[in-house]
Amino acid sequence: MTEYVIRGGHPLSGEVVVSGAKNAAVAIIPAALLVDGVCRIENVPEISDVTLFFSILDDLGAKVRLLNRHAVEIDCRSIRSTRPSYELARRIRASYYLLGALLGRFGEATVAMPGGCDFGVRPIDLHVKGFTAMGAEVIEGGDIHAVAKNGRLHGANIYMDQVSVGATMNVMMAAVLADGMTIIDNAAKEPHIVDLANFLNAMGADVKGAGTDTIKIRGVSRLTGGSYSIIPDQIEAGTYMAAVAATGGQLLIRNVIPKHMECISCKLLEMGVEVMEEDDTLLVRRAAPLQRANVKTLPYPGFPTDMQPQITVVLSLAQGTSMVTEGVWDNRFKYVGELKRLGAQITVDGKVAVIEGVDSLVGAPIQACDLRAGAALVIAGLAASGTTRLGNVQYIERGYENIVGKLRAVGADIEIVELEEPPVSESHIS
Ligand code: EPZ
Repeated sequence: MTEYVIRGGHPLSGEVVVSGAKNAAVAIIPAALLVDGVCRIENVPEISDVTLFFSILDDLGAKVRLLNRHAVEIDCRSIRSTRPSYELARRIRASYYLLGALLGRFGEATVAMPGGCDFGVRPIDLHVKGFTAMGAEVIEGGDIHAVAKNGRLHGANIYMDQVSVGATMNVMMAAVLADGMTIIDNAAKEPHIVDLANFLNAMGADVKGAGTDTIKIRGVSRLTGGSYSIIPDQIEAGTYMAAVAATGGQLLIRNVIPKHMECISCKLLEMGVEVMEEDDTLLVRRAAPLQRANVKTLPYPGFPTDMQPQITVVLSLAQGTSMVTEGVWDNRFKYVGELKRLGAQITVDGKVAVIEGVDSLVGAPIQACDLRAGAALVIAGLAASGTTRLGNVQYIERGYENIVGKLRAVGADIEIVELEEPPVSESHIS
């Protein structure tokens, strides 16, 4: 078991390079199951969620060959099973993508669903609705069993009752090898939706409209393979932007797509943080006191829910009263209790947090409760005076590549300390 020991109060300064997008990688790697050939995937983040997916594919019979720390070749021509390891699949929320990919390629799949939940009810009814419309029978239990009734899926018109990243990507995967045309209406538009579509097209699929409300997928008989490079991680970049906003200082953030960052940049500008974009970099500087702001999380291009905890930390140091409304998940403020231990003044009522800005935070022992909340607490520790000991950091390492090394390189006083006790919990929900 490890914890991070953070001695805060140092402004950040220097350059940080953003890794490949976690939420694109955890869709694109299982999507390799659809490919009857070799896929070469680059800009793969070196994070534990990705390593877990490599193990799942390897266990199914795929050949997974790491070319270097950020590039992999996956060959799914020798898949032996459509039932991923229960023990591995239950550890990651994104294992639902194995359903769409295996069902699409082989006409059946049996996949464990994670039993718990970090921020409210996380149903998969929209995924099931899509598969059913395409001719699958889906039986839900501890495992989800899906089978194409005629051995192969067929195209369908699917309206998503709610904008869902996972359901949009899963239906897209299931549809690329189906007979005929599938149309997804009210589709999610996140950058990783477009990235998955681009990956599938690079492998030989026919997907049009990703990034708009309507995605059209014309089924093809086979995906043959190819090369693809994953987009930079919008949320990792946003997390470093929030870190410099909270601590002060100046960071040049490299390997970003500035367009993807606008929803975050605009909010930081409103708070008095300078953000200058150029090609694939952002220069972020906080030279003046932070101003209050209201934030509501929404599907893309709205302010991302996966940046909600980080922006709440920044607002807890702003002058005046701010309000953060969580518009995607039912219960994503669980971390606030830990943040209050550092001196933040926040009241949560349901999906709304009211934040009275304070002049400073003070370090204390705290625990991460999920990935983004963990990253937010790192930021809080960096901004706080004194020492913060942050536990349960395995959550953070699921989605942030070398966060400690990257922060140390820009002046943060943060180190990883090995503890002797066993982990409190091994649940992994992303
Ligand atoms: C993805 O989760 C991300 N995870 C989450 O990021 C992110 O918070 C979320 O999208 C929203 O952007 C991955 O990409 C692996 P949704 P997902 O389906 O796909 C409801 C992180 O920190 N809904 O877009 O599971 C649902 O309850 C993680 O990186 C249904 O009602 O989210 C929620 O209110 C955490 N029925 C809303 O839709 C369904 O069948 C959006 O969920 C599916 C979802």
